[in-house]
Formats: sequence, structure tokens, C-alpha cells
Amino acid sequence: MNMSLDQIVAGIQELKKERNAVIVAHTYQQGEVQEIADKTGDSYALSKFVSNVEEDVIVFCGVRFMAESAKLLSPDKTVLLPVEAAGCPMANMVTGEDVRMMKKKHPNAAAVCYINSTAEVKAECDVCVTSSNALKVISSIKEKDIIFVPDRNLGSYIAKQIPEKNIILWDGYCIVHEALKEKDILKWKQLRPDATVLAHPECNTGVLNHADFIGSTKAIIDYVVSGPDQKAYIIATEKGVEHPIKKVKPNVELFFPSSCLLCVNMKKTGPIDVYNALNEMKHEILLGDEIIKKARRSLERMLELS
Ligand code: 13P
Ligand code: SF4
Repeated sequence: MNMSLDQIVAGIQELKKERNAVIVAHTYQQGEVQEIADKTGDSYALSKFVSNVEEDVIVFCGVRFMAESAKLLSPDKTVLLPVEAAGCPMANMVTGEDVRMMKKKHPNAAAVCYINSTAEVKAECDVCVTSSNALKVISSIKEKDIIFVPDRNLGSYIAKQIPEKNIILWDGYCIVHEALKEKDILKWKQLRPDATVLAHPECNTGVLNHADFIGSTKAIIDYVVSGPDQKAYIIATEKGVEHPIKKVKPNVELFFPSSCLLCVNMKKTGPIDVYNALNEMKHEILLGDEIIKKARRSLERMLELS
């Protein structure tokens, strides 16, 4: 049966009650999915939120590492990822074995992972970070040497701000942000010299060098919504942030400097997938007890230090 969007949304509301479920969505999700969610936000805001929910079921509209993190933080809950194939290529650029090898090579270093990593990698690390708390968390670690996986762009952005630390980078990157080039920003700056450039730290140095402000998706949204009153912005992050910004400030001009700024994995989930997930209770995130015990520590430590 083909259901209209209104029927899907009504069905989701019914199923949510029946299953005692809460729906969370990252701000890179489709606008329609963000509208269905009880809570939207960046990786940090969502991690904090899911660590404290009362409902029995968490439907995570995002990519696999996010749903896995929710399971790690709330192991007694049933966590559902509506589209099984929604993964993050960056999270798969480093393995637990890679981290073990780096720790052997740098025995005095603390191991830090970006939340965009698998549970297996989190289990090998001392602490986890997101783009919004990485500076604060890494600054507070006592070790001088820090292994940082997998994002070389976020890692080098942080390294520049804390020269007292020796940050040992892994060579991973986000395929979406990395595809944005310095020349794209320069072109748009020439076209719209009045626009403020806002960039996510997953962008490469060539792009970040031209940014007026660098921050997580939430920080970028907050900058436009509550920051200095301006008309035009060049946005160097995934296009999903347009939805929450336009809801509050419909008249601002937002320029996304490249068509690459769409994460196909984040866009795989639609309202019907959320409906099906709740209806059929799929696709449940299942992690072994041992991995939960080990990987959970790095996320809990992140929450303590942020
Ligand atoms: P934040 O949610 O921390 O801004 O990170 C963006 C991202 O790439 C999520 O996959
Ligand atoms: Fe992964 Fe990049 Fe997509 Fe985020 S935007 S889920 S880091 S590929």
C-alpha cells in the first residue's frame, strides 16, 4: 500500500506510543525526517540526549556509528537504525587493530577517537570526542602525545590550537567535506564578498583557512540563527543544516559552495523507513557485552570531560 506523507507521519505517532519510542535525527537528515524527530542536533547533542532517555526504544535517524553510540550509552534500550546500509565511510577508515598497532608504536600516548568510528575502535581508545567538544576534551588530557583517529582534518585543526600537544594523526577523512576544495570557497567569496564563511572542521586546511567561523553543525546553525545579524553565508558543511536554519530565518541567503555537500548515507533515511523501523522493530543495533563494556568507557569519559 502506498501511504501519503500525512499517513506515514500519523502512523509513526501511533507506533511511537505503542512501542514507547523516541525518535532522534542528526541535522544532516532529510528535512522531513528532522520534522518527525523528537530531538535533532549534532553528534554531541544527540549523544547527551540518548544517554538520558526514558523511552524503551530509540530510533536513530543518522548513520550506523551514531546508533551504535546510542546503544553504548544506553545498553538497556532497543536502538533501531531505520536503514541498515546507512554507514559512514570515514568510520570504516580505521580498525581496532590499527589503533592497537598505533598504541604499540606510541606507548606513552593517549588514544582518542572521533565519535565517527566503530564500536571496536572506541573500545581501544581512552576517550571519544565530537567536533563540538574535541578541543575541550583533548586539552584536558594529561598526556602530551595523543593518537587521534580517524579524521586527519579535525585532528590537524585541533593540533594547531594546542601546540603543547603532539597529535599523531591517522589518515582518515570525511568523503563529503574532503571533496570541497579551496577553489570552491575562493570562487564563492569572489561572487559574494559580503557573505560570512562558516565551515565544519571536517573540511581540509585549504577550506578552513578562509573560514570566518569554524564549528560543529550545531555551532554553524546557532551562528546563523543567533549570531551577528547578517544576510548571506557561505556554508562549508553538509546541506542538511539548511532546514533548521531556514525554519528560524527564512530570509537569510545560504550558499553551499559545491554540489558535493550532500552525504548520501545521511540522506538514505526517509519517513517511510522510520515507519517501517517502528512497525517491524528493525534494524536493531546488537553489540556484544564485552565490546559494550569497553567502548562505553570512552563515550562516558567524553561526557564527563565536556
Ligand atoms: P557533528 O555532528 O559533530 O557536527 O559532525 C558532523 C558529522 O559528520 C556527522 O557525521
Ligand atoms: Fe560520515 Fe561525512 Fe557523512 Fe558525516 S558527512 S556521516 S562524516 S561521510
